[in-house]
Amino acid sequence: MFVSQSSCHFVQLQPLRQENHHQLLFLSSRHPIQAALISLHCFHCHSLQYLSETEKLTRIQRVGAMAVDDVGSPVRYAVVTGANKGIGLETVRQLATAGVTVILTARNENRGKEATSKLHQSGLSNVVFHQLDVLETESIKSLAKFIETEFGRLDILVNNAGASGVVVDEDGLRALNVDPANWLAGKAVNVVQDVIKTTYEAAKLCLDTNYYGVKNVTEALLPLVQRSTSGARIVNISSLRSELKRIPDDQRRKELGDTDSLTEEKINAILQQFLHDLKHDALEANGWQKMLPAYSISKASLNAYTRVLAKKYPDMCINCVHPGFVKTDINWNTGIMTVEEGAAGPVMLALLPQGGPTGSYFDTTKLAEF
Ligand SMILES: NC(=O)c1ccc[n+]([C@@H]2O[C@H](COP(=O)([O-])OP(=O)(O)OC[C@H]3O[C@@H](n4cnc5c(N)ncnc54)[C@H](OP(=O)(O)O)[C@@H]3O)[C@@H](O)[C@H]2O)c1
Repeated sequence: MFVSQSSCHFVQLQPLRQENHHQLLFLSSRHPIQAALISLHCFHCHSLQYLSETEKLTRIQRVGAMAVDDVGSPVRYAVVTGANKGIGLETVRQLATAGVTVILTARNENRGKEATSKLHQSGLSNVVFHQLDVLETESIKSLAKFIETEFGRLDILVNNAGASGVVVDEDGLRALNVDPANWLAGKAVNVVQDVIKTTYEAAKLCLDTNYYGVKNVTEALLPLVQRSTSGARIVNISSLRSELKRIPDDQRRKELGDTDSLTEEKINAILQQFLHDLKHDALEANGWQKMLPAYSISKASLNAYTRVLAKKYPDMCINCVHPGFVKTDINWNTGIMTVEEGAAGPVMLALLPQGGPTGSYFDTTKLAEF
């Protein structure tokens, strides 16, 4: 129920947790999420409770499930993974600016809370922090439980957290001053071979984060995403290193590009073969990419998973996107685009209108070939 009364708006809540009393929130603006919450009134015992700042924020977030915005659109809830910095943080900022209530997640609690607090200071009170390490089952479960309890559903999932799959001598890389065009084309592979090393540990961490992490987070949140009332959106942050034309091995390229026969089992088998070949020093001999091999196959697998998922859930818009060559820590700040530019593609896909594309790959904001 959403009732207007003079300059205040009242929103009736379900009984809160253990409390059996129905309560009424007094909001001082038309926009329930950005409103200044004044007090809680209980009809049952007629008590009026004035709230602390923290309590106000929690209650405002809770009421969002029933709220509508100024133009009558339902409030949307989004999760962004790896959002304490870089493209993830900027994606949160842009989504929150568009009126979405965003759960900013980060594996490190301090870094995540600090990023959230900066967004609050800039006036974006519709951002809430929750810890999430995409490698930890318990952490994923805890996020799912939090969303279930606080919001009851999820409308947008941006799988952004990523790892590079290499160990880098950053000073050595900077000294090489690699031309961005050669870097992007993969032509710098021989130049950088002394400063960028693919170790087994870094490669495994990369596959676990960029592929299995995305898969585990998505599977855990899917029941909530399926309850979306505004049309669910899943955005997987990929890379141009994922593109099929960059895969030297014909068979593997065909397998990862064949949507009719793609399955999660097949993708898993390819990744396990990669780790096997890496362990036996047989990457080049077996047709894996030379430039950032673990990162490349992790993102090619992520694209394939995006297509499998899109086929399984045709009512959702599930897409993957290369954000551009953005200056962030993941590429040791060698990128040439700003985070604002990098977040444009992910945000556009997160806010796609009903009937928008699904199972597609985008290069920034443009539809592109897998
Ligand atoms: N920058 C580019 O040019 C570019 C190009 C193509 C694709 N991408 C993709 O864009 C995405 C964002 O990267 P970025 O450029 O913004 O780099 P970034 O600034 O280094 O951000 C990476 C984020 O991922 C987080 N992360 C890593 N492992 C995690 C884990 N296990 N659980 C949760 N979070 C984890 C990091 O957290 P910590 O701060 O705790 O390490 C950080 O917040 C990545 O998927 C990347 O592959 C970037």
